[in-house]
Formats: sequence, C-alpha cells, structure tokens
Amino acid sequence: MQTFIKKADTAILEAAALIKRGELVVFPTETVYGLGANAFDGQAVAKIFKAKGRPQDNPLIVHISEIDEIKNIAVDIPDGFYKLAERFMPGPLTVILKKSDKIPCEVTAGGDTVGVRMPDNKYARELISKSFPLAAPSANRSKHISPTTAEHVYEDLAGEIPLILDGGECSVGIESTVLDLTCDIPTILRPGAITAEMLLGIVGEVSENGRVIKIAKAPGMKYTHYAPVVDTVSAKNIDSAVAEYDKAAAQGKNPVIVARDIYRDKVSEREQISLGITAEDYTRNIYKALHDAEKKYGYIIIEELHGEGLEQSVMNRVTKAAGGKSV
Ligand code: TXA
Ligand code: MG
Repeated sequence: MQTFIKKADTAILEAAALIKRGELVVFPTETVYGLGANAFDGQAVAKIFKAKGRPQDNPLIVHISEIDEIKNIAVDIPDGFYKLAERFMPGPLTVILKKSDKIPCEVTAGGDTVGVRMPDNKYARELISKSFPLAAPSANRSKHISPTTAEHVYEDLAGEIPLILDGGECSVGIESTVLDLTCDIPTILRPGAITAEMLLGIVGEVSENGRVIKIAKAPGMKYTHYAPVVDTVSAKNIDSAVAEYDKAAAQGKNPVIVARDIYRDKVSEREQISLGITAEDYTRNIYKALHDAEKKYGYIIIEELHGEGLEQSVMNRVTKAAGGKSV
C-alpha cells in the first residue's frame, strides 16, 4: 500500500471518506499523532492492531469532537465526567468510563470500560465531525517512540496505511493523561499534561501511584476556620454539655455553655450564652455568640444540632470551631 502525507487543511474530506470506508487515517492531535479508525466498526479497528503490531490486549482511546457524542460511547456517566469535560475538553485528558454496547470489543480489548478524549486540534475534530468518533492509539509502531510530526509517522508506518494528515508539530508532545473514573476514587493510570493538582480542583480527590491526594473544594476549607481563640468543644446533647461544664469548672477553666434557650432549665445557674430557639436563630447567632464567649470565658461548650439541611450547614461551622472535638 502506498502511503501519502497530505496537508491536513486540504485533505479532511478525503480522510473522512477513507474512515467511512473502514480504512485507517493518521491525524494530528495536540499530544501526539493518532492512528484512527471508525470506533463503531470492529473490522476497521482490527486493522490498527495489525498496522502497529500492537498486542490485542491493549485497549484504544475513542476520540470525539463534541461532548454529546459520549452518549454513544459510554454508559452510567458520572457527573464528574461532565465537570472534567467542561474544564479540560478539548485537551490532553482521557477519561475511562463504562463502555456502551455500540463500542465493539476490538476497541476495548474485550474489557467493559472505554477511554474517551476530545483532542485540542481543529483538524482532528473536523475529521471526527465529518466521519465518526475515532478509535486511535499513538501512530507509531508498537513499542516505538510516539510521533509528534507526520514524518515520524511515515518512518514507522509507511506502507501500512493510506493517508497521513500533516498538521505540523504537536503542541503538547506527550500522550494524554489517562484518568479512570470507574474506580471509587478517580485514578491516574497515565500521567500527562493535565496533572493531579489540576484534576483535584474539579474532582476533589485523585489516586496516583497508589497514593490518594485530596484537597478541599473551596480554598481554605481544609483549615480550622472560624475557630475561637479559646478552647472550644461541641456537646452531643445538653446533658453532656452540663457534665463537661462542671468538669471544666472544677478544673478552673472558666467555661460557658452556648446553647438554645430551650435548655435554660438544665443549664440553670451556670454561665451561658443563648442561641435563641430555632435552627434559624441558632445559625444567625452562632458567630456572635462565639465572639462574645471568647472575650469573657476560658472554655466554650457548644450545643450540637443533629438535623438536616440548615442544621447540618451550621454544624459544619461548629465542628470547625471546635476543631472536631465533641463530648
Ligand atoms: O494523547 C493520547 O492519548 C494519544 C493521542 C493519539 O490521543 N493516544 C495514545 O493512545 O497515547 P495509546 O493507545 O498509545 O495509549 C493509550 C493508553 C494505553 O496505555 C492504554 O492501555 C490506555 O490508554 N487505555 C486505553 N483504554 C483504556 C481502558 N479502557 N482502560 C484502561 N486503560 C486504557
Ligand atoms: Mg502509544
């Protein structure tokens, strides 16, 4: 077979016609050149393995031109995918998802997951949009260096493929980051230009090399914020608040109970600051109560709430104020 190198901007239609006929086409991406076939055509995809001398057990990435195409490629797509897509697609990120029945086993090497990526290269996306999503590995002979120019591809694969679209040098130059979203914790299977730190901003935690990296979703969330300058604990109920108070008082700690008015009887003559009655009162009053308490007392004991919604939100702040200490 004769192999032609053609300028990408003039040969997209010819390339799309080849793909529709079940042939292979090499196309540029921002990472490395890819060796593409119609991802829905198992026989076409099988040619990729033959041309590259690629082991049959190594799955291929499916390249898309629009996020919407994901519906034909993957199923049970988690929200995280769409968040990542919004930030990093098009770009050098491949995401592993559960495969759809429309994707033949040749693409996934028999597995039930599929890698998906949207390349940040206009020729690649134009070719895809004029033909099909493309299953494609790097366009090198198996085990050889990945190609970042059309010439690299020609040196490796001349005679095996009909057409190489020349789109110039690849701008990123290494293969995409591969992120598995089918695990409990998103896992980096192959590092790339999209780093764990960059992913963390979107997915909250990432596993890489067996190590789990986490960050809080909002800056500063990981620190003990809202903490009073004096020792503070939360109390599971008013009885444990009272018991803690008496213990602290006996130790000379100058304690105060911060609680709702409904417990005034139980708190009795002990030092106290009122949070009002309802969850809304509690929420509105909590910071002021803590400000007041830290000026006058040596030890703050805050009544916990155990309901949903607003009560949970305000408990998030109380837990931080208490540094997680609960009695
Ligand atoms: O930047 C890139 O990703 C380039 C361009 C052409 O898009 N492609 C590329 O493909 O590097 P390839 O086949 O050379 O490398 C794909 C990597 C392989 O390590 C493969 O095992 C892994 O992704 N992979 C693909 N599908 C997978 C899946 N379903 N589960 C786990 N790993 C997968
Ligand atoms: Mg490769």
